Amino acid sequence: MPADGRIALPDDAALVLRTDRLELRPTTVEDAPRFWPHVADPRVTRFVTWVPHPDLDHTRAWLRQETDLRRAGRNVVWVVSEDGAFRGVVGLTGLAGEFATGAAFQSGEIGYWLGMPFHGRGLATEAVRAAAACAFRQIRLERLWARVMSRNPESARVLEKCGFREVGLERRKVRWRGRWHDCRLFDRVRAR
Ligand SMILES: CC(C)(COP(=O)(O)OP(=O)(O)OC[C@H]1O[C@@H](n2cnc3c(N)ncnc32)[C@H](O)[C@@H]1OP(=O)(O)O)[C@@H](O)C(=O)NCCC(=O)NCCS
Repeated sequence: MPADGRIALPDDAALVLRTDRLELRPTTVEDAPRFWPHVADPRVTRFVTWVPHPDLDHTRAWLRQETDLRRAGRNVVWVVSEDGAFRGVVGLTGLAGEFATGAAFQSGEIGYWLGMPFHGRGLATEAVRAAAACAFRQIRLERLWARVMSRNPESARVLEKCGFREVGLERRKVRWRGRWHDCRLFDRVRAR
């Protein structure tokens, strides 16, 4: 791993993941239209701290930024498909490696969302399991963590089903949509 804090990511082809029902592939800017209309749906963003996309250019700018962050070893965002059709997104962000002082932080945050018509079929659990396996086996992270607003129990359930442990409650962690939210913090470490 480079000593400047970057994680050495596998190339994009090696980051294509397959599960029983799903394919996860690193995003490219050409994917932008596939995200619509789900990426503009305020029901999807109710408990995530990004705003519904106002237009396709916003989606393209986000995807361009994600490609740059992947090249820099900071993020991996996958587009999740079933039989070739868009279902949602799972991503590892804030990937951090070793710093010049020798202190190591080989961890990352995991986040995910699906378009509303695809909820309730176990697809998020299937996608998060695959992304977590890749994070530990291929990217060699030591720790994954996730933050879930307390009013989002279905997301916490996904993490529990994927072997995450609840670490604690972060009180008034985030102000979002006009009110303060407590957040539940989860983590999972690489099996030894
Ligand atoms: C969170 C999200 C990804 C879950 O996707 P999903 O594919 O429906 O999830 P799964 O079907 O894999 O699992 C959902 C689990 O939550 C449970 N659940 C659903 N509603 C629930 C509720 N109100 N309270 C408790 N559990 C609930 C389901 O029963 C299921 O658990 P089970 O398999 O033990 O029955 C989806 O709701 C979503 O995209 N939400 C909007 C974006 C978001 O909040 N992302 C997470 C940010 S931290």
